Amino acid sequence: MEQTFLMVKPDGVQRNLIGEVVSRFEMKGFTLIGAKVLQISPELAETHYGEHKGKPFFEGLVEFITSGPVFAMVWEGDGAILEARKMIGKTKPQEADPGTIRGDYGVNMSKNIIHGSDSVESAKREISLFFNDNEIESYSKTV
Ligand code: CMP
Repeated sequence: MEQTFLMVKPDGVQRNLIGEVVSRFEMKGFTLIGAKVLQISPELAETHYGEHKGKPFFEGLVEFITSGPVFAMVWEGDGAILEARKMIGKTKPQEADPGTIRGDYGVNMSKNIIHGSDSVESAKREISLFFNDNEIESYSKTV
């Protein structure tokens, strides 16, 4: 079963959107197999967003993602990576469709509520960056 890494960013946490985000993925039928609130260190932020190093927005991105607690999650489901990206919507909230998380709640490129892995490789990398194996509980739904 495919796994993806999703993270409610500091703006989403401050705006009490954790429950709303979790609810959307639960209703979609995905299974939450790992979750925690944490304060990201600058080192972790720079590693997580390493592919953006050197871009003009990199420093602001690191500053924002470390500005307050985030809610990191691992979700499991068929095609979870692509499906979650569709539900999240485009990076720029003004271009994100209504009904997507960013389309409904995003403010700008920084304050866009949530991060989601964009490929199988990124998901594996990001999950192992944020979670130890013993913090993930993969299980089948019986009801
Ligand atoms: P995220 O999905 O977390 O992945 C990288 C983040 O960089 C992205 O969401 C945006 O918040 C941010 N980002 C991408 N492009 C820009 C940009 N041009 N200006 C500012 N932030 C950006």
